[in-house]
Amino acid sequence: MKILVTGAAGYIGSHFVKKALDRYPTVKVLAVDDLREGHAQALPDSERVTFHNISIANSEALDPVLAAEKPDAVVHYAANAYVGESQEKPFKYFDNNVAGSLNLFKLLARHGVNKVIFSSSCTTYGNPEYIPIDEKHPQSPINVYGITKLMIEQALMGLHLASGWSYISLRYFNAAGADDQAAIGESHEPETHLIPLVLQTALGRREEIGIYGDDYDTEDGTCIRDYVHVYDLAEAHCLALDKLLALKEGDSTFDAINLGTSRGASVEEVIKTCEKVSGRSIKRKVTARRPGDPAKLVADYTRAKEILGWEPKYDLERIIETAWAWEKSRQY
Ligand SMILES: NC(=O)c1ccc[n+]([C@@H]2O[C@H](COP(=O)([O-])OP(=O)(O)OC[C@H]3O[C@@H](n4cnc5c(N)ncnc54)[C@H](O)[C@@H]3O)[C@@H](O)[C@H]2O)c1
Repeated sequence: MKILVTGAAGYIGSHFVKKALDRYPTVKVLAVDDLREGHAQALPDSERVTFHNISIANSEALDPVLAAEKPDAVVHYAANAYVGESQEKPFKYFDNNVAGSLNLFKLLARHGVNKVIFSSSCTTYGNPEYIPIDEKHPQSPINVYGITKLMIEQALMGLHLASGWSYISLRYFNAAGADDQAAIGESHEPETHLIPLVLQTALGRREEIGIYGDDYDTEDGTCIRDYVHVYDLAEAHCLALDKLLALKEGDSTFDAINLGTSRGASVEEVIKTCEKVSGRSIKRKVTARRPGDPAKLVADYTRAKEILGWEPKYDLERIIETAWAWEKSRQY
């Protein structure tokens, strides 16, 4: 089995590659990443992984790779993923997330590759009308990033209807945590995710952790999010991949599946758990609410259980333990 992984040197992509090598003893991974955000060190040193330092927008470079390798399926992580930046630089996001993905799909079509697992996001839902959010919840994103993810979900639907492509859009909630051996982990510049920011504060790399509003309609007044471990995400990608690869010749399918734990944690609960895991006290600073931050975002993952047989295995404390071990010893 041969799979093309775009964005393979990024946070979630690199954990998937590591997991896939363990889970599929003969898999060959074509790892594509132009390192605009990712880290080459995040990729395992294995003869089963070939790294191509190219952009999905670069047809000239990607076309010969696809022609020579003919992957059985694609796991498509490559994207820009900062909500705030997407509002400031919409065309950067339309160019990379939308035009880049469409360019990739054009090349896949040329080489007869028509099975895709796509990294979508809970941001495609916008402000929740009800909690927990299931896949029937209306998709009305409230920022450019979320719109680009929805556009690609729809492009894949178009390719399913027009050309019989099979795809599964996996809508992640908040990816978190690191490798159990702390060999790889989260490293974004700038970092915007709560858990690494809190742990960096615990380590004294940041002075304090900002809390954007403590007057929300939640138990402790801070926002609630659904944190899901990167290896739980990786496992779901493998299960989704198994489904697409098991299709009989001529059959096609599509799906959209939430990946979260159905258990929300407030910002304050995350900080307290980080204090418990690290054994250090962490300085907080409450500031004004951020525009567009809903009080609660929590997944209903029933569909992931039913369709993929998936259950998240890491709870919040274990997620933070892996992130803490990584943060203390990180190599990149
Ligand atoms: N982190 C989360 O909580 C979260 C939640 C929902 C969805 N997602 C999605 O999951 C995917 C991975 O997110 P992440 O947190 O690992 O981000 P990341 O930035 O760590 O990884 C993305 C990788 O894609 C690469 N990349 C970007 N554009 C590229 C291009 N044109 N060609 C080749 N490589 C390119 C980057 O260099 C990077 O290594 C993204 O699509 C993101 O939108 C992430």
